Amino acid sequence: MSVIISPSILSADFANLEKEITTVTLAGAEWIHIDVMDGHFVPNITVGTPVVKSIRKVTKAFLDVHLMIENPEKYIPDFIQAGADLITFHAEASKSKTLKCIDLIKNSGIKAGISIKPKTPVSEIQPFLNCVDLVLVMTVEPGFSGQIFMPKCAQKISEIKSLAPDIKYIQVDGGINDKTSKICKNAGANCLVAGNYVFKAQNIKAAIQNLLSE
Ligand code: DX5
Ligand code: ZN
Repeated sequence: MSVIISPSILSADFANLEKEITTVTLAGAEWIHIDVMDGHFVPNITVGTPVVKSIRKVTKAFLDVHLMIENPEKYIPDFIQAGADLITFHAEASKSKTLKCIDLIKNSGIKAGISIKPKTPVSEIQPFLNCVDLVLVMTVEPGFSGQIFMPKCAQKISEIKSLAPDIKYIQVDGGINDKTSKICKNAGANCLVAGNYVFKAQNIKAAIQNLLSE
């Protein structure tokens, strides 16, 4: 099974973002994970469309945008415009507008992902599993990088796999390192987000290779 590594720039040096992105892509990362937080859906604020636009200009890497914001349907068109290749929003935020969000994303020709926080069961997103390209299983409470992996969340991976065997990507995000990545891959995840483990590593290339290794 081929696995995709999506380093989260939340742990990168924002003053040297272009250089940081070049380093991880040369080291084997195919995607770049951009965490968008609004201070409402999660208790933290990060970056918005201007940053996505600037990153788009300096890399051909696949831009994986993770929206941790309320009312995602209002902002999805701006992130499409900014150059995202995939937009993942949270089911807890889209509520009754989940299908609208998926349609907005897919009708623009890019990939759509749906995510659930640790306390949200897979049953909440079951009706949408066949409409999305990616399901993001949060393995920490969203909001901050550098938190500890919650093993219980990994059980959702096999549940998703059995409910939607044809789903393209099952992504995990939060506390992913050389050990926790193995738990997730064994359960069926094929896309790993990693912030601290990649960007704070002494040897970024070795860190990415560790995530990719069997
Ligand atoms: C958390 C973010 C993650 C975070 C991951 O809310 O969605 O993408 O940056 O960071 P690590 O890998 O350090 O847990
Ligand atoms: Zn994320």
